[in-house]
Amino acid sequence: MSGKPRLGELFPDFSAETTVGKINFHEWLGNSWGILFSHPADYTPVCTTELGKAARLVPQFQKRNVKVIALSCNSVNSHKGWIEDIKSYSMIQGDAFPYPIIDDESRDLAVRFDMIDPAEKDKDGLPLTCRAVFIIDPNKVLRLYFMYPATTGRNFDEILRVLDSLQLTDKYKVATPADWKQGQEVMVLPTVSEEEAKSLFPNGISTVLVPSGKKYLRETPQPVE
Ligand code: BEZ
Repeated sequence: MSGKPRLGELFPDFSAETTVGKINFHEWLGNSWGILFSHPADYTPVCTTELGKAARLVPQFQKRNVKVIALSCNSVNSHKGWIEDIKSYSMIQGDAFPYPIIDDESRDLAVRFDMIDPAEKDKDGLPLTCRAVFIIDPNKVLRLYFMYPATTGRNFDEILRVLDSLQLTDKYKVATPADWKQGQEVMVLPTVSEEEAKSLFPNGISTVLVPSGKKYLRETPQPVE
């Protein structure tokens, strides 16, 4: 597949120059989950806070077997200079930056992956990339994406939360409800029969009574390894 990424389909492979050299995306991912996130431009305030937050969360991503990679429509040289500001602003120690940043000065990837926001333009009147997040699983399948405009920074704790949900619901026949957080009750999938549910969830199931009388709201403690 080479066009626009779609949920549930193979995320397109690509090669690109990055702050750690040339990469082939699928090869770089290996057997990890991946987060590819774009931002409008280097040396901009909200982006600086976002890349710093993502850098500080790298140990959390590693715990979940997730590799992080950023993208903006500037050169590797520009990214390398900007990294020093990000490290200073977010108080990140050491010489290395904990994840690569892709050089998409040509805007090839921004266009190919539909990350352009026509409402936001740079000083030359060219449209900027939006704040896209793509979450890709170890089979290279796109599992989740969202897009924010340039003026709204993303919530990186939400990114960890959805990763936890994706990884949990891959293992068990459950779904996570609104505002769910690690350790809270989850919902039994509607496709699971009552019989099967009893054997799959030995910690018990409580069925919420609703006016329709239908027994579809089945809660169970979060399964653990
Ligand atoms: C920012 O990162 O602060 C930003 C970038 C482009 C447009 C608006 C804000």
